[in-house]
Amino acid sequence: MASENVIEEKKQGQALITDNKSENKKKLFIESYGCQMNLNDSEIVASILSKQGFNTTLNLEDADLVLVNTCSIREKAEQTIRKRLQKYNAVKKINPKMKVGVLGCMAERLKEKFLEEEKIVDLVVGPDAYRDLPNLLEEIDAGRDAVNVILSKDETYGDVSPVRLNSNGVSAFVSITRGCDNMCTFCVVPYTRGRERSREPKSIIKEIQDLVDENYKEITLLGQNVDSYLWYGGGLKKDFKKASEIAQATAVDFAQLLELCATTFPKTRFRFSTSNPQDMDLSVLNAMANHKNICRYIHLPVQSGSTKILKAMNRQHTREEYMELIDNIVEIIPDIALSQDMITGFCGETEKDHQDTLSLMEYVKYDFGFMFAYSERPGTPAAKKTPDDVPIDVKKRRLTEIIQLQQKHSFYRTKAFIGKTMEVLIEGISKKSELHFKGRNSQNTVVVFLKEDYKVGDFINVKVDNCTSATLIGTAVGYSENN
Ligand code: SAH
Ligand code: F3S
Repeated sequence: MASENVIEEKKQGQALITDNKSENKKKLFIESYGCQMNLNDSEIVASILSKQGFNTTLNLEDADLVLVNTCSIREKAEQTIRKRLQKYNAVKKINPKMKVGVLGCMAERLKEKFLEEEKIVDLVVGPDAYRDLPNLLEEIDAGRDAVNVILSKDETYGDVSPVRLNSNGVSAFVSITRGCDNMCTFCVVPYTRGRERSREPKSIIKEIQDLVDENYKEITLLGQNVDSYLWYGGGLKKDFKKASEIAQATAVDFAQLLELCATTFPKTRFRFSTSNPQDMDLSVLNAMANHKNICRYIHLPVQSGSTKILKAMNRQHTREEYMELIDNIVEIIPDIALSQDMITGFCGETEKDHQDTLSLMEYVKYDFGFMFAYSERPGTPAAKKTPDDVPIDVKKRRLTEIIQLQQKHSFYRTKAFIGKTMEVLIEGISKKSELHFKGRNSQNTVVVFLKEDYKVGDFINVKVDNCTSATLIGTAVGYSENN
């Protein structure tokens, strides 16, 4: 998760670069929009193309190949990408040999239509087809259309070692599941990323070992729905019940995977994202309570505080069940930090439903929040069955109200850290001051402090002196026992 307390639409893509191989001659400009999963997928793509002779560049004008990893989650995200394609178009006029490819969710959603709608695009590749990139590049060299949007039952890229792009050398993402079976009615992800499948624990541990060997200190396990992780020898999650008795008996679930990671790498911090309330089990909470190196932070999207709206969204829990889960979390892990995703103005949302959202927020007092106005996505159950009937100005007013309440709660949470001393992993230089480092505490709150003689990657203790609603300001008081 990004560390800002409140995020609206992310307008900027991230142009990505890595340490390049000297023997590679072709230049790849790759940028990523949307979620962390996309960023991690771009690292997989860069790895596949590095073997094809491509080095990454941050200079669009220099590129032989431009790839944009896209997001379809809201209409605005797609519009941002369309605008970006216009910029590529201007560059292609100067450099006509440059090829342009679209990856990710928008590629999967629009398929061949992309080639018709956007003349600039040479290549359309869905999230499960990145291994096919070398063949697809040959197709465009031969003057043929290159589209592969086939979704897979078992692709997890488990054997591809991602090359780390724009890395701080300290924290990295490791994907553990792909796809989602939850079918929330508003969400395009099940259609663009396919059915849910889990990656083999052995390959996850191997990737983490490689990162630890390269001195990485914090790993975030990634998936659309990590609590639903289940390895039973491969295949879709939905087919688990058909697997052999042995496969079922030896299956590894998310709590077991967390335990395995935390015990195999006791000096490494672990985070995970995203948790879905309906799949979050007490065993996961117990695994967290048992291991200090699993960070005290859970991103637990709820989307609405109204049971009626949750039902319309096909979220498999009520407001009360969610509150009970929150009570359990706080009881088992008292120093936990929590964050939410919320959608305002979903189909049929009344003022009363909106008040239910505000009162749920008041109950939980989340540390962070990621809040959005509902955006109808073509092809989703909500788009097909329920009218998008909340006027845009009402959606926006409600969004402003929940953002303001979240800011108040974030400040309440950051103020509670004042006077306390906590372990921080140093991630880099503060954006605002060359003299300060920034890092995060276990609860995922950003902490800034004077650099002194410490260095990036150190675990240190910081005493918090002051705060804003988003940042803690403190003083380093020495190395922590984990260092
Ligand atoms: N489980 C996923 C959720 C992906 S979408 C994960 O890994 O984070 C991230 C968030 O975008 C959702 O939790 C939801 O709050 C928001 N979102 C999804 N579809 C949306 C839509 N159609 N309109 C507005 N917001 C949406
Ligand atoms: Fe989307 Fe719901 Fe899955 S929000 S990613 S369908 S858990």
